[in-house]
Amino acid sequence: MAINMSSSNFLFVLCLVCGAVAAGLCQSRGKTIFPRTFGLNSIRLLIEGNGYGYENYTVTTEDGYLLNLNRIVHPNRTGSDRGYPLLLVNGYFMQSEAWLVQQELDSNLGFVFADKGYDVWLGDQRGTERSKGHINQTIDESKLWDFTYHETGVYDFPAFIDFILNKTNHEDLIFSCMSLGCTFHSVLGSKRPSYNQKIRAAIYFVPVISNNRQPEELNSFVYLMLRTVPALTEISEKSGRIEWHPNLGNLKKEFYHVCRLLGYNLYRLFAKIMFGSGFHIPHEKMCNVIALSMGGASSRVTKHIVQVFDNAGFSEFDYGREENLKKYGTALPPLYDLKKITTPIAFYYSDIDQFTSPKGLQKTIKLLGGPSYTCELPNFNHLDVAAGSTFRFVLPDVINLLDSLTGRSNDTEKFKSGKCPSMEWIRHLN
Ligand SMILES: *[C@@H]1O[C@H](CO)[C@@H](O)[C@H](O)[C@H]1NC(C)=O
Ligand SMILES: *[C@@H]1O[C@H](CO)[C@@H](O)[C@H](O)[C@H]1NC(C)=O
Ligand SMILES: *[C@@H]1O[C@H](CO)[C@@H](O)[C@H](O)[C@H]1NC(C)=O
Ligand SMILES: *[C@@H]1O[C@H](CO)[C@@H](O)[C@H](O)[C@H]1NC(C)=O
Ligand SMILES: *[C@@H]1O[C@H](CO)[C@@H](O)[C@H](O)[C@H]1NC(C)=O
Repeated sequence: MAINMSSSNFLFVLCLVCGAVAAGLCQSRGKTIFPRTFGLNSIRLLIEGNGYGYENYTVTTEDGYLLNLNRIVHPNRTGSDRGYPLLLVNGYFMQSEAWLVQQELDSNLGFVFADKGYDVWLGDQRGTERSKGHINQTIDESKLWDFTYHETGVYDFPAFIDFILNKTNHEDLIFSCMSLGCTFHSVLGSKRPSYNQKIRAAIYFVPVISNNRQPEELNSFVYLMLRTVPALTEISEKSGRIEWHPNLGNLKKEFYHVCRLLGYNLYRLFAKIMFGSGFHIPHEKMCNVIALSMGGASSRVTKHIVQVFDNAGFSEFDYGREENLKKYGTALPPLYDLKKITTPIAFYYSDIDQFTSPKGLQKTIKLLGGPSYTCELPNFNHLDVAAGSTFRFVLPDVINLLDSLTGRSNDTEKFKSGKCPSMEWIRHLN
């Protein structure tokens, strides 16, 4: 029945059919209100503009970086107990806005969980626009930007987690990530196992951990990109620039104008080539959504990602033989030991994701030291979790899982069931 039905029609029918079961899906709270500017302040404008309070804190890492940590303050919970803490971390070249740019307000994971009674924190990892400071004010640019995603996992996450636990007086928190944000968590769990106890569970969306797609499985465009990026980073590093796009504010504005000029169809074509065939980002505010989500990164992070696709496994940064010998004492960089990750992890992954294949992911899951829960998202583009219109249909399962993990529902076995109910019906929605 659903082949040609738009998602809103389908939803309407679903509401009629399922009644109370789908009640959470049926009350649309309207459109997200987007700020008109793309500055450092856009997260505050985005959160306050949609009726929530905003707080932010500066957190210092063990290696001296000053990071921005955002918090959504639900208007009904402003006292000291604001609910069980939830830390959200975004993906590559994104920042915290990525959790709040769904065009329907109630499709935004950050806002939905605040409404459900959770204390929602959003971490801006090092290298993103609001997290470029260092306690050593005279530190060289080249030193400041000399980090890969390894340092984010090993230093940024502990700083965020310890700060939140101290501030909220909770013993643990739940962590959720998309894409590269999940890579950071895997690094943390394997390199600093004591943090496994501080995270009750991790919820991964479209994670990129191991060499989950072989080069020949990647489409030619992504493959070409992976082949050219190392050369490009080499050039930019030789000219002393390891920050990727220092003037991100301008880049966002330029992107926004070009995106509007090129129009939806051209952009969609590009995104499909790059990220996979399903693409469900609604037309209307697409350019705002993408411009707001963009964060920064160092070229080393980019290079490290490329290495994941090239190397045999999930390993620390490859500096080349000579440097590796000095740094690690081995010619090849050490692999991350996935057995050390004992935190329970829920995987929401797509069957068509350009960057992670279901088969490769299953292999990774088998290597983990802790239990897992899996949920296959049919026909999800890599970007759909952040901005696609079908993500809202996945949220009820995520909410049930979280409520179960935090003792807020009577179903204490959901995670142990190992798997979500089939979501195959989402495949044909537009
Ligand atoms: C975060 O806090 C700092 C210090 O209080 C403040 O200067 C900055 O503007 C805040 N950031 C945002 C986005 O409001
Ligand atoms: C906030 O509190 C008011 C008054 O108690 C209540 O009517 C409203 O439903 C609450 N909002 C949420 C989202 O919980
Ligand atoms: C600060 O950075 C400069 C330049 O990299 C370095 O020479 C200096 O030792 C650093 N100071 C501290 C206290 O780490
Ligand atoms: C926790 O916070 C208190 C007060 O805000 C501070 O004095 C203490 O040093 C913090 N503890 C840790 C382990 O960060
Ligand atoms: C959980 O079970 C208790 C006791 O059986 C019941 O009173 C309560 O309504 C249930 N809560 C939910 C969320 O189902």
